[in-house]
Amino acid sequence: MIEDGEEIPLLGGDVTEGLVRVGDTVRRPPGERDELVRDVLLYLEKTGFEGAPRYLGVDSAGRHALTYVEGEVAGRPRPPWIADEERALSVARLLRAYHDAIEGFGIPQNLPAPIQPPGLPDLDDPLELIGHQDVTPENVVFRDGRAYALIDFDLVRPVSRAGDVVNLMLWWAPFGEDADLDPQLRGLDRPRRCRLLADAYGLSEPDRERLMNLAIARDGRAWHTMKYRAETLGGGWQRMWSEGVGDTIRHRQAWLEEHADRLTTALLA
Ligand SMILES: Nc1ncnc2c1ncn2[C@@H]1O[C@H](COP(=O)(O)OP(=O)(O)O)[C@@H](O)[C@H]1O
Ligand SMILES: [Mg+2]
Repeated sequence: MIEDGEEIPLLGGDVTEGLVRVGDTVRRPPGERDELVRDVLLYLEKTGFEGAPRYLGVDSAGRHALTYVEGEVAGRPRPPWIADEERALSVARLLRAYHDAIEGFGIPQNLPAPIQPPGLPDLDDPLELIGHQDVTPENVVFRDGRAYALIDFDLVRPVSRAGDVVNLMLWWAPFGEDADLDPQLRGLDRPRRCRLLADAYGLSEPDRERLMNLAIARDGRAWHTMKYRAETLGGGWQRMWSEGVGDTIRHRQAWLEEHADRLTTALLA
């Protein structure tokens, strides 16, 4: 039995409306991938992985109840520590631990078919595990200056390990022209940070070699996916699209193309 109680809205994320904290739990309104998220969280609990909320069940209002993970989460404006190298590397280690924990879960049959926006370019990338795919600053809980837990599993889906590392670097290297980044994240040495993130994760040599091409190809798809979500789901997706996320993706892709050789050299050095 999941108890009712005073509901405190949880803000800071971009898309989930109606997310609340009740005591030491959070309640998430039904979403696209509820069953997969539930199964992933239950599997992580079974393996003893500490770095994710626990799935508690469905409450009287039909919402999924998870544990509230105490700690520090980056809101807006961004705190200066989102640029901290040690913090970023701790996120890479947490992502690796998540991958090692979830790998044995495999890739379930009968997952809802991935969305196919018109014009979506193909991607030649092996599906190795259920990736998190949204390792943004607001989706990582820190304790004592180290990444402690991933939250917000709403975008989990089958990907390659490298595909999730691209998502990690996108936010924590990060990728993109300084002018497009949060002021706290400007002027960072991206080749160095990509290299250190790959080392902290323990990324294989073949994955390092193909990482930049994968990042570029994924941004080619991300533009279509974001546009499609804005058009079909509205809400926060539409708001992000009107605020120019499509242009940000295009600029980022151009930045990746321009710097791919330099970044790959750093990854392999
Ligand atoms: N299980 C949780 N434990 C601690 N904080 C959480 C939890 N779930 C959400 N939050 C807080 O609420 C914010 C928004 O939640 P999130 O699930 O990321 O929503 P969105 O889908 O909109 O990004 C997070 O950035 C975090 O601060
Ligand atoms: Mg979030």
